[in-house]
Amino acid sequence: MDLGLAGRRALVTAASKGLGRACAVTLIAEGARVFISSRSPEATAREIGAVGSVAADISAERAPEHIVGAAVDALGGLDVLIVNAGGPRPGTFQDVPLSSWDDAYQLTLMSAVRLVNSALPHLKKSDQARIVFISSISVRQPLPILALSNSLRAAVTGLAKTLSLELASHHITVNSVAPDAILTDRIRQLAGGDELGVKAMGDRTPMGRLGTPEEFAAAVVFLCSRQAAYISGQTLGVDGGSLRGVH
Ligand SMILES: NC(=O)c1ccc[n+]([C@@H]2O[C@H](COP(=O)([O-])OP(=O)(O)OC[C@H]3O[C@@H](n4cnc5c(N)ncnc54)[C@H](OP(=O)(O)O)[C@@H]3O)[C@@H](O)[C@H]2O)c1
Repeated sequence: MDLGLAGRRALVTAASKGLGRACAVTLIAEGARVFISSRSPEATAREIGAVGSVAADISAERAPEHIVGAAVDALGGLDVLIVNAGGPRPGTFQDVPLSSWDDAYQLTLMSAVRLVNSALPHLKKSDQARIVFISSISVRQPLPILALSNSLRAAVTGLAKTLSLELASHHITVNSVAPDAILTDRIRQLAGGDELGVKAMGDRTPMGRLGTPEEFAAAVVFLCSRQAAYISGQTLGVDGGSLRGVH
């Protein structure tokens, strides 16, 4: 299937590794021109054939504006924005110090708000504009020891739904893709940092295995496609059937 992504201009943030990197690689495989960011994106940008990259801590107030500006300069415009950031620190509500709430708010919610705010004028000029938020199963099923993620990602989901309604008349679709356990460094860390922990985490899923970043990226890239023009305001789980709820 031709996804209509050849020549499309895409920015993927937090893309030096893990889910963001896989999204960038898959977009490039579909012929998109991709710009990436993270705190250290240069080596990945060279490896995967990105058009360019910029190094920035996305939780800093001016970083999203700087990232979008660099992407638009390099790409000559913007059709696709994949909103991603590193995960907030793990911990139960009782473990997490109050000061970590503001860090997580800047990293998880405000980076997304600022990225969309800076990207919107450019996306409005595109005839196939897409915003995809990398989210988490935690927006539907809170995860143990992830109090910050459980709380702040729900706000990002509210943002995504709000944007999908507000931007529909501009033909900009806005969706979220929610992983449970896709094998990346973040999941390795949450599993305790060793192969036994990773295996145990996979064994607990309905399919008996973790997902791959490529499986996750395929869903994200489909939502960026021409064929997904009438899909907006959705949160698509890529979780191997882990979500327990009916709705
Ligand atoms: N993997 C999963 O199954 C899963 C499940 C639920 C939710 N998530 C969420 O999905 C997101 C991506 O996860 P992942 O598994 O791909 O994690 P990962 O493998 O740890 O990759 C995180 C990426 O974020 C970048 N990053 C981290 N902090 C940053 C910052 N302050 N500013 C800019 N870039 C930053 C890192 O690059 P640099 O080090 O170069 O900055 C890296 O490219 C995270 O928010 C995670 O919590 C993942």
